[in-house]
Amino acid sequence: MQAHICWTERRTLRLMDQRLLPFEVRFEEYDRAEAVAEAIRNMVVRGAPAIGVTAAYAMVLSAARAAKAQDPREARRQILRDADILRQARPTAVNLAWAVDRMVHLARDLSKSGAEGEDIAQALEDEAVQIHRDDVAACRAIGRAGLPFVPQEATILTHCNAGALATGGYGTALGVVRAAHEAGKLAGVFADETRPFLQGARLTAWELHEDHIPVTLLCDNAAGALMAQGRVSVVVVGADRIAANGDTANKIGTFSLAVLAHHHGIPFLVAAPRSTFDPAAADGSAIPIEQRAQNEVLSLAGRRLAPDGVEAVNPAFDVTPHDLIHAILTEEGPIHPVNGDTVSRFLAKAPS
Ligand code: MRU
Repeated sequence: MQAHICWTERRTLRLMDQRLLPFEVRFEEYDRAEAVAEAIRNMVVRGAPAIGVTAAYAMVLSAARAAKAQDPREARRQILRDADILRQARPTAVNLAWAVDRMVHLARDLSKSGAEGEDIAQALEDEAVQIHRDDVAACRAIGRAGLPFVPQEATILTHCNAGALATGGYGTALGVVRAAHEAGKLAGVFADETRPFLQGARLTAWELHEDHIPVTLLCDNAAGALMAQGRVSVVVVGADRIAANGDTANKIGTFSLAVLAHHHGIPFLVAAPRSTFDPAAADGSAIPIEQRAQNEVLSLAGRRLAPDGVEAVNPAFDVTPHDLIHAILTEEGPIHPVNGDTVSRFLAKAPS
């Protein structure tokens, strides 16, 4: 699959518009941080690590623009304003705030040491490229960490899209799928279609099909029946934010899958990099859940599905309690079992 987040030599950001997939592969070019924030809000790019990488590049656009300001105080104000707009674009995925904060801290440190303008912009550019590279490397390591949990001839069920399109590249949950495929362990993937935005049908099916990895689509509500028939070896999903006790926010419907997997004795795995952990959230109740427009549920492909006057509720994410999670696969190895002690031990270790 071709890269979907591209930093150009002209210092612009090119993003594949994921709303058009699988029917059209089209890139849009951005030169302003505010426009990138809008693209994140509107799901041109989505998936927690991918929006973190994208926001890092957006901060470079902000710094490059600020470098042209006459007054260094005005330049600093502009960078902080853009950082705020970006942080608010989507509230649940903590990778977004993580990446923006990392860029703001770097800009602040450089400014304190006397750097300004173009020097700051150049340092932020190097940092964003590094965040992007690190994310791809983390995904590959997550894939390797998942291998011992995947049996021979495995059928992996996944939800939403936690693939190359949702990360800097390679994917978290689909990183495990790719590693299993490369190791000759994979019989196939079951992809939930993932109502209402259909990330499974449009994105997971597309990127696996592009890479010749066998994928079968199912309605979200078919997962229990497949598990009861013994057709699912393991469930692997991504995460938008993991609390200090291991409770995990991910795409709406993930919690139901975890309950079903528990009922059927099927291992339920979460695949996520260190940047998805939020030590400030003691448990899942502290994770903000994005509520999206009713229209995403009430209509499909521009056509209304429900009678006029009927309302819909559209939480974009739910929280899976840590005791339903068999292991969290990180770039530094698996966390297993998942509880406050094992997660805090992981967080206390210096990142490798
Ligand atoms: O609303 P989305 O498409 O951004 O939701 C994406 C997910 O829920 C993913 O599973 C999660 O961000 C992890 S992506 C590696």
